[in-house]
Amino acid sequence: MKRRTLLKQITTGAIALPLMGVSDFEKLTSKTKNWKGKFSLDKVKDEAFWKEFKKEHYDISDEFINLENGQFGVQPKMVVDAYCEFIKKVNRENSGYTRNHFYKEDYKPIMETLAEFSGTGSDEILITRNATEALNILIQGISLKAGDEVILHMQDYPSMIEAFQMLEKTKGIKINKIDIPFIPESDAEIVKLYEDAITDKTKCILVTHMIHLTGQVMPVKAISDMAKKKGIDVMVDAAHSFAHLDFKIPDLGCDFVGVNLHKWFSTPLGMGMLYVKKDRIKDLNPMFGDNTKPDDSIYKLGHFGTISSPTYLTVPIAAEFNNMITLPVKEARLRYLQNYWSKEIESMPNAQMLTPTAPERSCAIATFKLNNIDVNKTIDKLYKEYGVFTVRRDLPGGDAGIRVTPNLYIGTSDIDKLLEGVQQLSKA
Ligand SMILES: Cc1ncc(COP(=O)(O)O)c(C=O)c1O
Repeated sequence: MKRRTLLKQITTGAIALPLMGVSDFEKLTSKTKNWKGKFSLDKVKDEAFWKEFKKEHYDISDEFINLENGQFGVQPKMVVDAYCEFIKKVNRENSGYTRNHFYKEDYKPIMETLAEFSGTGSDEILITRNATEALNILIQGISLKAGDEVILHMQDYPSMIEAFQMLEKTKGIKINKIDIPFIPESDAEIVKLYEDAITDKTKCILVTHMIHLTGQVMPVKAISDMAKKKGIDVMVDAAHSFAHLDFKIPDLGCDFVGVNLHKWFSTPLGMGMLYVKKDRIKDLNPMFGDNTKPDDSIYKLGHFGTISSPTYLTVPIAAEFNNMITLPVKEARLRYLQNYWSKEIESMPNAQMLTPTAPERSCAIATFKLNNIDVNKTIDKLYKEYGVFTVRRDLPGGDAGIRVTPNLYIGTSDIDKLLEGVQQLSKA
Protein backbone atom coordinates (compact mmCIF):
# COMPACT_ATOMS: atom_id res chain seq x y z
CA MET A 1 0.00 0.00 0.00
CA LYS A 2 1.36 3.44 -0.90
CA ARG A 3 2.50 5.40 2.17
CA ARG A 4 0.24 8.34 1.38
CA THR A 5 -2.84 6.10 1.32
CA LEU A 6 -1.74 4.40 4.50
CA LEU A 7 -1.25 7.73 6.25
CA LYS A 8 -4.60 9.00 5.10
CA GLN A 9 -6.22 5.92 6.53
CA ILE A 10 -4.42 6.35 9.81
CA THR A 11 -5.40 10.00 10.14
CA THR A 12 -9.00 9.21 9.26
CA GLY A 13 -8.99 6.22 11.58
CA ALA A 14 -9.87 3.81 8.77
CA ILE A 15 -7.32 1.15 9.66
CA ALA A 16 -5.70 -0.32 12.73
CA LEU A 17 -2.14 0.80 13.23
CA PRO A 18 0.25 -2.06 13.90
CA LEU A 19 1.08 -0.30 17.16
CA MET A 20 -2.31 -0.92 18.67
CA GLY A 21 -2.12 -4.72 18.63
CA VAL A 22 -5.13 -6.04 20.49
CA SER A 23 -6.66 -2.66 21.17
CA ASP A 24 -6.72 -1.25 17.70
CA PHE A 25 -6.76 2.37 16.64
CA GLU A 26 -10.43 2.32 15.78
CA LYS A 27 -11.37 1.03 19.20
CA LEU A 28 -9.15 3.49 21.00
CA THR A 29 -10.59 6.40 19.04
CA SER A 30 -14.20 5.19 19.00
CA LYS A 31 -15.28 8.29 20.97
CA THR A 32 -14.69 10.39 17.86
CA LYS A 33 -17.24 8.46 15.77
CA ASN A 34 -20.37 10.35 16.80
CA TRP A 35 -18.56 13.66 16.88
CA LYS A 36 -16.69 13.82 13.60
CA GLY A 37 -18.15 16.40 11.24
CA LYS A 38 -20.09 18.13 14.05
CA PHE A 39 -17.55 20.85 14.73
CA SER A 40 -18.12 24.04 12.78
CA LEU A 41 -17.65 27.74 13.37
CA ASP A 42 -21.44 27.99 13.98
CA LYS A 43 -20.92 25.95 17.15
CA VAL A 44 -18.39 28.31 18.73
CA LYS A 45 -20.96 30.02 20.99
CA ASP A 46 -23.18 26.99 21.50
CA GLU A 47 -22.77 26.25 25.23
CA ALA A 48 -25.03 23.16 25.15
CA PHE A 49 -22.82 21.63 22.45
CA TRP A 50 -19.60 22.20 24.42
CA LYS A 51 -21.23 20.92 27.61
CA GLU A 52 -22.03 17.62 25.87
CA PHE A 53 -18.54 17.60 24.39
CA LYS A 54 -17.05 17.96 27.88
CA LYS A 55 -19.20 15.14 29.25
CA GLU A 56 -18.16 12.79 26.47
CA HIS A 57 -14.49 13.64 26.20
CA TYR A 58 -13.13 14.83 29.55
CA ASP A 59 -12.85 13.60 33.09
CA ILE A 60 -12.34 16.78 35.08
CA SER A 61 -12.19 17.44 38.82
CA ASP A 62 -15.23 19.39 39.98
CA GLU A 63 -13.46 20.58 43.12
CA PHE A 64 -12.45 23.82 41.42
CA ILE A 65 -12.75 25.60 38.08
CA ASN A 66 -9.42 25.26 36.35
CA LEU A 67 -8.57 28.47 34.55
CA GLU A 68 -4.87 27.58 34.56
CA ASN A 69 -4.55 25.24 31.59
CA GLY A 70 -1.31 26.88 30.52
CA GLN A 71 1.19 24.70 32.36
CA PHE A 72 0.12 21.57 30.50
CA GLY A 73 -3.04 20.26 28.86
CA VAL A 74 -5.65 17.95 30.33
CA GLN A 75 -5.65 14.80 28.20
CA PRO A 76 -9.06 13.94 26.79
CA LYS A 77 -10.45 10.60 27.96
CA MET A 78 -9.51 8.79 24.76
CA VAL A 79 -5.86 9.86 25.07
CA VAL A 80 -5.52 9.04 28.76
CA ASP A 81 -7.32 5.69 28.30
CA ALA A 82 -5.09 4.75 25.37
CA TYR A 83 -2.03 5.85 27.35
CA CYS A 84 -2.99 3.54 30.22
CA GLU A 85 -3.41 0.66 27.76
CA PHE A 86 -0.03 1.39 26.20
CA ILE A 87 1.70 1.54 29.58
CA LYS A 88 0.22 -1.85 30.48
CA LYS A 89 1.05 -3.35 27.09
CA VAL A 90 4.66 -2.18 27.12
CA ASN A 91 5.05 -3.32 30.70
CA ARG A 92 3.59 -6.74 29.87
CA GLU A 93 5.64 -7.31 26.74
CA ASN A 94 8.71 -5.35 27.79
CA SER A 95 11.57 -5.37 25.29
CA GLY A 96 9.79 -8.10 23.31
CA TYR A 97 7.54 -5.26 22.19
CA THR A 98 10.03 -2.42 21.91
CA ARG A 99 12.75 -4.38 20.09
CA ASN A 100 10.44 -6.38 17.82
CA HIS A 101 7.65 -3.93 17.17
CA PHE A 102 8.08 -0.37 18.42
CA TYR A 103 11.19 0.59 16.49
CA LYS A 104 10.51 -1.73 13.55
CA GLU A 105 6.82 -1.02 12.95
CA ASP A 106 5.29 1.64 15.14
CA TYR A 107 7.81 4.48 15.31
CA LYS A 108 7.47 5.37 11.62
CA PRO A 109 3.67 5.76 11.45
CA ILE A 110 3.78 7.77 14.69
CA MET A 111 6.25 10.22 13.15
CA GLU A 112 4.36 10.30 9.86
CA THR A 113 1.12 11.13 11.66
CA LEU A 114 2.86 13.93 13.55
CA ALA A 115 4.48 15.20 10.34
CA GLU A 116 1.11 15.25 8.58
CA PHE A 117 -0.45 17.16 11.48
CA SER A 118 2.44 19.66 11.55
CA GLY A 119 2.76 20.05 7.79
CA THR A 120 6.40 18.95 7.86
CA GLY A 121 8.40 16.07 6.49
CA SER A 122 8.81 13.16 8.90
CA ASP A 123 12.57 13.52 8.29
CA GLU A 124 12.44 17.08 9.69
CA ILE A 125 11.03 16.35 13.15
CA LEU A 126 11.92 14.59 16.37
CA ILE A 127 9.84 13.96 19.46
CA THR A 128 11.53 15.46 22.52
CA ARG A 129 10.61 15.46 26.23
CA ASN A 130 9.32 19.02 26.00
CA ALA A 131 9.84 22.38 24.31
CA THR A 132 12.78 23.18 26.58
CA GLU A 133 14.66 20.16 25.26
CA ALA A 134 13.75 20.91 21.64
CA LEU A 135 14.85 24.54 21.93
CA ASN A 136 18.06 23.65 23.75
CA ILE A 137 18.98 21.34 20.87
CA LEU A 138 18.57 24.37 18.60
CA ILE A 139 20.17 27.00 20.83
CA GLN A 140 23.17 24.85 21.68
CA GLY A 141 23.32 23.39 18.19
CA ILE A 142 23.63 26.46 15.99
CA SER A 143 27.12 27.66 15.24
CA LEU A 144 27.76 30.78 17.28
CA LYS A 145 31.19 32.13 18.12
CA ALA A 146 32.59 34.84 20.39
CA GLY A 147 31.22 38.24 19.45
CA ASP A 148 28.18 36.91 17.57
CA GLU A 149 24.95 38.54 18.69
CA VAL A 150 21.49 37.14 19.29
CA ILE A 151 18.27 39.08 19.84
CA LEU A 152 15.90 38.01 22.59
CA HIS A 153 12.75 39.57 23.97
CA MET A 154 12.33 40.37 27.69
CA GLN A 155 9.19 38.21 27.67
CA ASP A 156 10.76 35.11 26.09
CA TYR A 157 10.57 32.01 28.26
CA PRO A 158 13.24 32.12 31.02
CA SER A 159 14.69 28.67 30.18
CA MET A 160 15.53 29.84 26.65
CA ILE A 161 17.02 33.10 27.89
CA GLU A 162 19.14 31.07 30.32
CA ALA A 163 20.32 28.74 27.56
CA PHE A 164 21.59 31.76 25.60
CA GLN A 165 23.08 33.23 28.79
CA MET A 166 25.03 30.02 29.21
CA LEU A 167 26.46 30.58 25.71
CA GLU A 168 27.40 34.09 26.76
CA LYS A 169 29.59 32.52 29.43
CA THR A 170 30.92 29.53 27.50
CA LYS A 171 31.31 31.01 24.01
CA GLY A 172 31.38 34.74 24.54
CA ILE A 173 28.29 35.51 22.46
CA LYS A 174 26.37 38.73 23.14
CA ILE A 175 22.65 38.95 23.96
CA ASN A 176 20.65 41.97 22.82
CA LYS A 177 17.37 42.04 24.74
CA ILE A 178 14.49 44.08 23.41
CA ASP A 179 11.21 45.03 25.02
CA ILE A 180 7.83 45.06 23.32
CA PRO A 181 4.71 46.80 24.65
CA PHE A 182 2.11 44.54 26.24
CA ILE A 183 -0.42 46.01 23.82
CA PRO A 184 1.41 46.91 20.60
CA GLU A 185 -0.30 48.87 17.86
CA SER A 186 0.66 46.80 14.85
CA ASP A 187 2.82 43.97 13.51
CA ALA A 188 4.97 46.60 11.85
CA GLU A 189 5.74 48.15 15.26
CA ILE A 190 6.96 44.78 16.56
CA VAL A 191 8.98 43.92 13.45
CA LYS A 192 10.66 47.33 13.64
CA LEU A 193 11.71 46.77 17.26
CA TYR A 194 13.49 43.56 16.21
CA GLU A 195 14.91 45.19 13.09
CA ASP A 196 16.29 48.15 15.05
CA ALA A 197 18.18 45.78 17.35
CA ILE A 198 20.03 44.11 14.48
CA THR A 199 23.73 44.91 14.08
CA ASP A 200 26.26 43.55 11.61
CA LYS A 201 27.11 40.90 14.23
CA THR A 202 23.55 39.57 14.68
CA LYS A 203 23.30 35.89 13.78
CA CYS A 204 20.06 34.75 15.36
CA ILE A 205 16.69 35.96 16.66
CA LEU A 206 14.58 33.96 19.10
CA VAL A 207 10.86 34.64 18.70
CA THR A 208 8.24 33.29 21.07
CA HIS A 209 5.08 32.67 19.05
CA MET A 210 2.76 32.99 22.06
CA ILE A 211 4.21 34.73 25.11
CA HIS A 212 3.73 32.67 28.29
CA LEU A 213 3.23 35.73 30.51
CA THR A 214 0.37 37.35 28.64
CA GLY A 215 -0.62 35.13 25.70
CA GLN A 216 0.39 37.84 23.21
CA VAL A 217 0.84 36.35 19.73
CA MET A 218 3.91 37.56 17.88
CA PRO A 219 4.01 38.11 14.10
CA VAL A 220 6.53 35.33 13.56
CA LYS A 221 6.28 35.19 9.77
CA ALA A 222 6.81 38.94 9.36
CA ILE A 223 9.81 38.91 11.73
CA SER A 224 11.24 35.91 9.92
CA ASP A 225 10.77 37.47 6.47
CA MET A 226 12.57 40.61 7.63
CA ALA A 227 15.41 38.61 9.24
CA LYS A 228 15.85 36.20 6.32
CA LYS A 229 16.47 39.11 3.95
CA LYS A 230 19.40 40.02 6.19
CA GLY A 231 20.72 36.44 6.42
CA ILE A 232 19.74 36.09 10.09
CA ASP A 233 18.33 32.84 11.48
CA VAL A 234 15.06 32.87 13.41
CA MET A 235 14.30 30.27 16.03
CA VAL A 236 10.69 29.93 17.10
CA ASP A 237 9.47 28.95 20.54
CA ALA A 238 6.03 27.58 19.63
CA ALA A 239 5.52 25.87 23.00
CA HIS A 240 2.11 27.44 23.48
CA SER A 241 0.88 27.98 19.94
CA PHE A 242 1.08 24.48 18.46
CA ALA A 243 -2.39 22.87 18.18
CA HIS A 244 -3.80 26.03 19.77
CA LEU A 245 -3.62 28.39 16.80
CA ASP A 246 -4.57 27.12 13.37
CA PHE A 247 -1.25 26.91 11.53
CA LYS A 248 1.21 24.43 10.06
CA ILE A 249 4.89 24.72 10.92
CA PRO A 250 5.98 25.91 7.43
CA ASP A 251 3.50 28.83 7.71
CA LEU A 252 5.90 30.35 10.25
CA GLY A 253 8.56 30.71 7.56
CA CYS A 254 11.31 29.61 9.98
CA ASP A 255 13.91 26.88 9.75
CA PHE A 256 14.09 26.07 13.48
CA VAL A 257 11.06 25.48 15.73
CA GLY A 258 10.51 23.99 19.20
CA VAL A 259 7.03 22.85 20.23
CA ASN A 260 5.22 21.32 23.18
CA LEU A 261 2.90 18.40 22.56
CA HIS A 262 1.84 18.11 26.19
CA LYS A 263 0.16 21.53 26.22
CA TRP A 264 -2.49 22.06 23.52
CA PHE A 265 -1.95 18.93 21.42
CA SER A 266 -3.07 17.03 24.56
CA THR A 267 -0.57 14.17 24.83
CA PRO A 268 0.60 12.90 28.21
CA LEU A 269 3.29 14.90 29.99
CA GLY A 270 6.82 14.56 28.68
CA MET A 271 6.33 15.35 25.01
CA GLY A 272 7.59 18.08 22.75
CA MET A 273 8.73 18.33 19.16
CA LEU A 274 11.76 19.67 17.36
CA TYR A 275 11.51 20.86 13.76
CA VAL A 276 14.51 21.65 11.57
CA LYS A 277 14.01 22.41 7.90
CA LYS A 278 15.62 19.57 5.94
CA ASP A 279 18.32 21.62 4.26
CA ARG A 280 19.35 23.25 7.57
CA ILE A 281 19.97 20.06 9.58
CA LYS A 282 23.58 20.01 8.40
CA ASP A 283 24.10 23.43 10.03
CA LEU A 284 23.40 22.13 13.54
CA ASN A 285 25.81 20.39 15.89
CA PRO A 286 24.27 17.62 18.01
CA MET A 287 23.74 18.48 21.65
CA PHE A 288 23.68 14.78 22.57
CA GLY A 289 26.82 13.00 21.41
CA ASP A 290 26.33 11.25 18.07
CA ASN A 291 28.94 9.98 15.70
CA THR A 292 27.13 7.65 13.39
CA LYS A 293 24.24 9.42 11.64
CA PRO A 294 24.69 11.36 8.40
CA ASP A 295 25.20 15.08 8.83
CA ASP A 296 21.90 15.89 7.16
CA SER A 297 19.83 13.41 9.20
CA ILE A 298 17.50 14.72 11.90
CA TYR A 299 18.41 11.61 13.92
CA LYS A 300 21.90 12.99 14.56
CA LEU A 301 20.11 15.46 16.89
CA GLY A 302 18.05 12.80 18.67
CA HIS A 303 20.47 10.50 20.43
CA PHE A 304 18.23 10.39 23.50
CA GLY A 305 18.80 6.88 24.85
CA THR A 306 15.79 4.82 25.89
CA ILE A 307 12.59 6.69 25.19
CA SER A 308 9.10 6.33 26.62
CA SER A 309 7.34 4.23 23.96
CA PRO A 310 3.89 4.36 25.68
CA THR A 311 4.04 8.15 25.48
CA TYR A 312 5.04 8.14 21.81
CA LEU A 313 2.17 5.76 21.04
CA THR A 314 -0.38 8.37 22.13
CA VAL A 315 0.53 10.73 19.26
CA PRO A 316 -1.91 9.29 16.68
CA ILE A 317 -4.71 9.31 19.28
CA ALA A 318 -4.08 12.95 20.20
CA ALA A 319 -3.86 13.86 16.50
CA GLU A 320 -7.21 12.18 15.90
CA PHE A 321 -8.76 14.14 18.77
CA ASN A 322 -7.49 17.44 17.37
CA ASN A 323 -8.53 16.48 13.83
CA MET A 324 -12.02 15.69 15.09
CA ILE A 325 -12.40 19.21 16.52
CA THR A 326 -10.45 20.84 13.66
CA LEU A 327 -7.98 23.59 14.43
CA PRO A 328 -10.05 26.51 13.07
CA VAL A 329 -12.91 25.60 15.44
CA LYS A 330 -10.56 24.98 18.36
CA GLU A 331 -8.85 28.34 17.89
CA ALA A 332 -12.17 30.18 17.49
CA ARG A 333 -13.74 28.59 20.59
CA LEU A 334 -10.68 29.29 22.75
CA ARG A 335 -10.57 32.90 21.58
CA TYR A 336 -14.29 33.27 22.21
CA LEU A 337 -13.83 32.08 25.81
CA GLN A 338 -11.00 34.56 26.35
CA ASN A 339 -12.93 37.45 24.83
CA TYR A 340 -15.96 36.49 26.94
CA TRP A 341 -14.11 37.44 30.13
CA SER A 342 -11.58 39.97 28.88
CA LYS A 343 -14.22 42.28 27.35
CA GLU A 344 -16.06 42.35 30.71
CA ILE A 345 -12.94 42.85 32.80
CA GLU A 346 -11.69 45.65 30.57
CA SER A 347 -14.65 47.75 31.64
CA MET A 348 -14.42 47.06 35.39
CA PRO A 349 -13.07 49.72 37.76
CA ASN A 350 -9.38 49.27 38.67
CA ALA A 351 -8.94 46.51 36.10
CA GLN A 352 -6.34 46.50 33.36
CA MET A 353 -5.75 44.01 30.56
CA LEU A 354 -2.11 43.16 29.84
CA THR A 355 -2.95 41.23 26.67
CA PRO A 356 -4.07 42.60 23.32
CA THR A 357 -7.53 41.18 22.68
CA ALA A 358 -7.54 41.66 18.89
CA PRO A 359 -8.15 38.25 17.24
CA GLU A 360 -4.75 37.93 15.60
CA ARG A 361 -2.89 38.99 18.77
CA SER A 362 -4.16 36.49 21.36
CA CYS A 363 -6.20 33.33 21.84
CA ALA A 364 -6.99 31.26 24.96
CA ILE A 365 -4.41 32.89 27.22
CA ALA A 366 -4.75 36.41 28.58
CA THR A 367 -3.55 38.29 31.65
CA PHE A 368 -5.03 41.12 33.69
CA LYS A 369 -4.41 42.97 36.90
CA LEU A 370 -6.42 44.88 39.45
CA ASN A 371 -4.80 48.09 40.58
CA ASN A 372 -6.66 48.23 43.91
CA ILE A 373 -5.64 44.86 45.38
CA ASP A 374 -2.51 42.72 45.65
CA VAL A 375 -2.13 40.01 42.99
CA ASN A 376 -1.55 37.14 45.42
CA LYS A 377 -4.55 38.20 47.50
CA THR A 378 -6.73 38.30 44.37
CA ILE A 379 -5.63 34.82 43.27
CA ASP A 380 -6.18 33.48 46.77
CA LYS A 381 -9.65 35.00 47.07
CA LEU A 382 -10.68 33.84 43.59
CA TYR A 383 -9.72 30.31 44.57
CA LYS A 384 -11.07 30.20 48.12
CA GLU A 385 -14.21 32.26 47.67
CA TYR A 386 -15.19 31.59 44.06
CA GLY A 387 -13.53 28.21 43.40
CA VAL A 388 -11.57 29.60 40.44
CA PHE A 389 -7.93 28.60 39.94
CA THR A 390 -5.64 31.10 38.16
CA VAL A 391 -1.91 31.81 38.28
CA ARG A 392 0.37 34.79 38.98
CA ARG A 393 2.81 35.81 36.27
CA ASP A 394 5.66 38.19 37.09
CA LEU A 395 6.24 40.64 34.30
CA PRO A 396 9.45 42.38 33.24
CA GLY A 397 9.73 45.70 35.07
CA GLY A 398 8.51 44.35 38.42
CA ASP A 399 4.77 44.31 37.73
CA ALA A 400 2.65 41.16 38.05
CA GLY A 401 -0.60 39.96 36.55
CA ILE A 402 -3.15 37.16 36.79
CA ARG A 403 -3.06 34.74 33.88
CA VAL A 404 -6.33 33.10 32.88
CA THR A 405 -6.26 30.09 30.54
CA PRO A 406 -9.39 28.10 29.76
CA ASN A 407 -9.24 24.88 27.76
CA LEU A 408 -12.05 23.40 25.66
CA TYR A 409 -13.86 21.79 28.59
CA ILE A 410 -14.46 25.20 30.15
CA GLY A 411 -17.83 26.85 29.52
CA THR A 412 -19.05 30.40 29.89
CA SER A 413 -20.82 29.47 33.15
CA ASP A 414 -17.36 28.62 34.60
CA ILE A 415 -16.04 31.96 33.40
CA ASP A 416 -19.04 33.74 34.97
CA LYS A 417 -17.62 32.63 38.33
CA LEU A 418 -14.35 34.38 37.53
CA LEU A 419 -16.22 37.50 36.49
CA GLU A 420 -18.32 37.47 39.66
CA GLY A 421 -15.17 37.30 41.77
CA VAL A 422 -13.22 39.94 39.87
CA GLN A 423 -16.23 42.27 39.86
CA GLN A 424 -16.42 42.11 43.64
CA LEU A 425 -12.68 42.42 44.16
CA SER A 426 -12.33 45.33 41.75
CA LYS A 427 -14.62 47.36 44.00
CA ALA A 428 -12.78 46.48 47.21
C1 LIG B 1 6.65 30.06 25.72
C2 LIG B 1 7.15 28.84 26.43
N1 LIG B 1 8.27 28.27 26.01
C3 LIG B 1 8.74 27.16 26.57
C4 LIG B 1 8.12 26.58 27.63
C5 LIG B 1 8.72 25.38 28.27
O1 LIG B 1 7.87 24.28 28.20
P1 LIG B 1 8.35 22.93 28.88
O2 LIG B 1 8.59 23.25 30.33
O3 LIG B 1 7.23 21.99 28.70
O4 LIG B 1 9.59 22.53 28.21
C6 LIG B 1 6.95 27.13 28.12
C7 LIG B 1 6.24 26.54 29.26
O5 LIG B 1 5.23 26.97 29.71
C8 LIG B 1 6.44 28.30 27.49
O6 LIG B 1 5.33 28.89 27.92
